[in-house]
Amino acid sequence: MRVSTPPPTALDVESLDYWRALCPKLHVEAGLGRPMFEIGDANELVGRLRLEGYVNVPGVLGQPVYEPLRACVETLHGAGIPLAFAFVYDEFWLAFQGISRFIEAALGKDYFALPDFWVWHLTASEQATGFAPHRDRVQPTLDPDNSPHSLTVWLPLSDATPLSGCIYVLPAQHDERFSRRVWDGPGNNKVEDLQNIRAVPAQAGSFLAWNQAILHWGGRASRRAEGPRTSAAFEFQRGDKPPFNEPLLDPQRVPPFAERLGLIGKQALQYQHMYPLAPEVERLAIELRDRFMPRVASAALPGSPGIEPEHRPHPPSNNRLPEQAPSEPNKPRLIDPKLVRESMTRRLFRRSVATGQITLPAVPSMVDEYVTMCDNLFAAMGSRFTAEELAYLRTVLEGQLAEAYAASPRSTVSISHDVPVGTTLNYHVSAQWKTIGETYHDWIATREPPLFGTQPDARVWALANEAADPRTHRVLDIGAGTGRNALALARRGHPVDVVELTPKFADMIRSDADRESLEVRVHQRDIFSTTDDLRRDYQLIVLSEVVPEFRRTQELRSLFELAAHCLVPGGRLVFNTFLACPGYTPDKAARELAEQMYTSIFTRPEMSTAAAGLPLELAADDSVYEYEKAHLPEGAWPPTSWYAGWISGLDVFDVERDECPIEMRWLVYRKTG
Ligand SMILES: C[S@@+](CC[C@H](N)C(=O)[O-])C[C@H]1O[C@@H](n2cnc3c(N)ncnc32)[C@H](O)[C@@H]1O
Repeated sequence: MRVSTPPPTALDVESLDYWRALCPKLHVEAGLGRPMFEIGDANELVGRLRLEGYVNVPGVLGQPVYEPLRACVETLHGAGIPLAFAFVYDEFWLAFQGISRFIEAALGKDYFALPDFWVWHLTASEQATGFAPHRDRVQPTLDPDNSPHSLTVWLPLSDATPLSGCIYVLPAQHDERFSRRVWDGPGNNKVEDLQNIRAVPAQAGSFLAWNQAILHWGGRASRRAEGPRTSAAFEFQRGDKPPFNEPLLDPQRVPPFAERLGLIGKQALQYQHMYPLAPEVERLAIELRDRFMPRVASAALPGSPGIEPEHRPHPPSNNRLPEQAPSEPNKPRLIDPKLVRESMTRRLFRRSVATGQITLPAVPSMVDEYVTMCDNLFAAMGSRFTAEELAYLRTVLEGQLAEAYAASPRSTVSISHDVPVGTTLNYHVSAQWKTIGETYHDWIATREPPLFGTQPDARVWALANEAADPRTHRVLDIGAGTGRNALALARRGHPVDVVELTPKFADMIRSDADRESLEVRVHQRDIFSTTDDLRRDYQLIVLSEVVPEFRRTQELRSLFELAAHCLVPGGRLVFNTFLACPGYTPDKAARELAEQMYTSIFTRPEMSTAAAGLPLELAADDSVYEYEKAHLPEGAWPPTSWYAGWISGLDVFDVERDECPIEMRWLVYRKTG
């Protein structure tokens, strides 16, 4: 179908508005994020590429991606505009960036785009053909194992069938040139055995890629084809090889509009022996090439792309490009030393090789902070993420954070990253967790004893001392740890039962009690698994530094029920817990972070609700900091190096103690009736 759009004038070509109006569904300099298409097993594809010289991968670009590209080619064709102008639009660049995972696998992470791209529109007619049989390059472009130094990637934007002029190849394994390792010279485009020729039909949305030594061509179309065959191709090369063409381009960047025009002018001229240009179009192409080609790059060292495009002049806001004088090599130029230095800094960073890993506690409600941290970190390594890339990173982090946090309050996410030269940054986010028992097992292996101090808690000791005869004052110590309280109470004469989750701690208490012949009965288990093995005549139930491990108010409720069940009337339940200060309501993020810091926060209303309806009354409510500091024996304060800060809530809130919105409290409940 021909459309009535007139061909662009020289003025039109430089106008963003012209291009935007021509194909309103596509964008020019819209800052769109880089897509990442699913390409399957990249290594398997590279294996195929080495054997056969080409790959044909279906279903990579979805219809919403390729359809506007196809329509654009149709429009350009209808308007008589050289098809290379399709690369005015961001989406044509992005389509190739979307399969970078495959290209990286084939050419290495520091590959470059070559300034070689083209677009085809073969009408459904007997006259239309693609490129005649040829090899893209006839000099050696392959390692001995056929790993390519350069690659052509071809995207069918409509179905490429034998009737519409699909690609044909002589597969590498059937081409004696690959055995001889000579691809130039007479007869290099002839096929001896015609049966070796392979048609490569490809549906719209596929990608084809071939090494540049393989013999291939576009077939002749037929009037019986269902429609025109439209396609686009781009060439790429390895970063460690001298440029096959210049300027080499950063494959991860969409060049600024001006630069695109220069490159398009160059393409139109490069292929005019096959696609003749009208004299006025040829003049236009020459002008674009001479004025807007990325010129610094052509002087760049082999294997290095030109100066970063973002420091080239951008079109002014009236959407017209600034006049650029044709290059005059002998004329002194105005050089800004600051810009030169900045360009060197960018190059230096792009030559950096970095690798690292950060592991953080998993706090799902703080995902924004993780994203910001990664953004800053990656930027510091020379890789500035786009908004879309950050959004994707956020999704990945959200998933891993949720998984880790749900699994355990001792959980982390690790973000490992590596920058293998260039702007590519690979990262991987993974969730890890340990159970509470495993964590304390690690404490035993890695920390200096005494882990929780040597003295019993002053609050616990004071309550126990109220008993005239310890032998009739039975104690249950839940989460007894290394037995700091349980053993001291047993030494005083109390019969003591212990419930302890961490097997190694349970063993330690047992052997200490045996050695000293103390009356201590140890149950190694989770306190919430049963109450069947517990007595009903405890005078005192102790949980020191254990409630900060609870995750839900339901666990508080279970504790109060246990106390109501197992205490004698008048018996006391004592535990320490972090409570929100009056006027502070912890949000989800604070609670999640607190859990990760052994500091679960509850509010007084939650405490009341958990105890509601049970024969328990609150008998005392004291600041742990004040109480222990005032009552511990001389020299015993603080019990450990971390204790004073932890009980003040400072492991969660990095503030001064008196500004902290939570505090650890000793709560004592008495069983009534
Ligand atoms: C911070 S340590 C305190 C140890 C001891 N109470 C002290 O103050 O020295 C917490 C202890 O509670 C135990 N613990 C945590 N949750 C538990 C549960 N659900 N059942 C039994 N023990 C638990 C842990 O294994 C650990 O030994």
